[in-house]
Amino acid sequence: MRYADRMGRLGTETAFEVLAKAKKLEAEGKSIVHLEIGQPDFPTPPHIVEAAAKALRDGHTGYTPAPGVPEIREAVAEHIAARLGQPVHPDEVVVTPGAKPIMFYMFLAFVEAGDEVVYPNPGFPIYESMLDFVGAKRVPLPLTAKNGFRVDVDLLERLVTDRTRVLILNTPGNPTGGIVAPEDLPRIAQIVLRRKDLVVLSDEIYSRILFGGRHASIAAQPGMRERTVILDGFSKTYAMTGWRLGYGVMPKECAARFSQLMVNSNSCTANFVQRAGVAALRGPQDAVDAMVAEFARRRDLIVDGLNAIPGVRAIKPDGAFYVFPDTTGTGLRSGDLANKLLFDAGVACLSGTCFGAHGEGYLRFSFANSPDNLREGLRRIRACLAPAVAR
Ligand SMILES: Cc1ncc(COP(=O)(O)O)c(C=O)c1O
Repeated sequence: MRYADRMGRLGTETAFEVLAKAKKLEAEGKSIVHLEIGQPDFPTPPHIVEAAAKALRDGHTGYTPAPGVPEIREAVAEHIAARLGQPVHPDEVVVTPGAKPIMFYMFLAFVEAGDEVVYPNPGFPIYESMLDFVGAKRVPLPLTAKNGFRVDVDLLERLVTDRTRVLILNTPGNPTGGIVAPEDLPRIAQIVLRRKDLVVLSDEIYSRILFGGRHASIAAQPGMRERTVILDGFSKTYAMTGWRLGYGVMPKECAARFSQLMVNSNSCTANFVQRAGVAALRGPQDAVDAMVAEFARRRDLIVDGLNAIPGVRAIKPDGAFYVFPDTTGTGLRSGDLANKLLFDAGVACLSGTCFGAHGEGYLRFSFANSPDNLREGLRRIRACLAPAVAR
């Protein structure tokens, strides 16, 4: 078979590759502590599961309108309206199988080959992959531990040009757990509004997993609703990664375009899954609160544990369930260190470079694992690195 050139430009999400490698080692009898996986280790709350089962029993098994059934578009609109403190119309909501399609549609809809896109680096690997796929000119916005992985707004201002079509913000962010500081949002909004054709993809998939403070979206800044596509979903908040349920919130006219992309790709999101989503948004939120409180405890455990290891320096993430320590003190490059930890210590984690070139010098650990497993992982890392650093 002869493939189109663009297939050669498509990247991947290395977390899945590391998981496969770790599973292979496990199959060979090796014990592995999994700190590579980016999904909550909690079950989906039972009332959501029941809503899906009921929807199936009630016969909600056919196609739905491409952007979603009215009930879920209304529920999402209410939810985002409460977050932004502004009214949101259901016609501004497009429901998708997981939130990832919103990224895809964003670049297909707005970016011509050669157009510039400014995106966080280290950042979610699918941004780079998709940007290469559509032939965009990638303009990385480096994030560093020095300033708590926050956006350097002066640098952002220098990177944005008349050719920039999309700015990607991700708050709280994967892999760093850093946020876009609320006090920086007015200036970032001004940078965007100064350019005629610049739109923001605001990836807010971790918006509910925040350890203090309220989530602040760029879309709430004056004039920004017309320039922003919010990406969010159910995977992380409601422990529903395998259900595939996400959405975008955007201006009505843009929602019509994204719906057209939905018709052309997925037709619609699974009918009964959408009904479960309504139960998730409208039902009790105590399971979410309990999960976030548990993540906060684990964050402290892993950050303190990492900081007790020579050569490793971790700052406390503001949100999500990742810690992104600086490991330059070990003297090893990130890829080598991640391999060493996997093969010598039985700890699976991700090299910072899985998230772009600016991830060199860091590792990503997920704390979506039990405190006992986190402690065991830390013990193994300490034992593995102590001799290397002492040398
Ligand atoms: C930053 C970020 N955005 C979006 C997604 C996509 O989530 P999903 O497609 O499961 O809704 C993820 C998943 O890992 C993520 O980390």
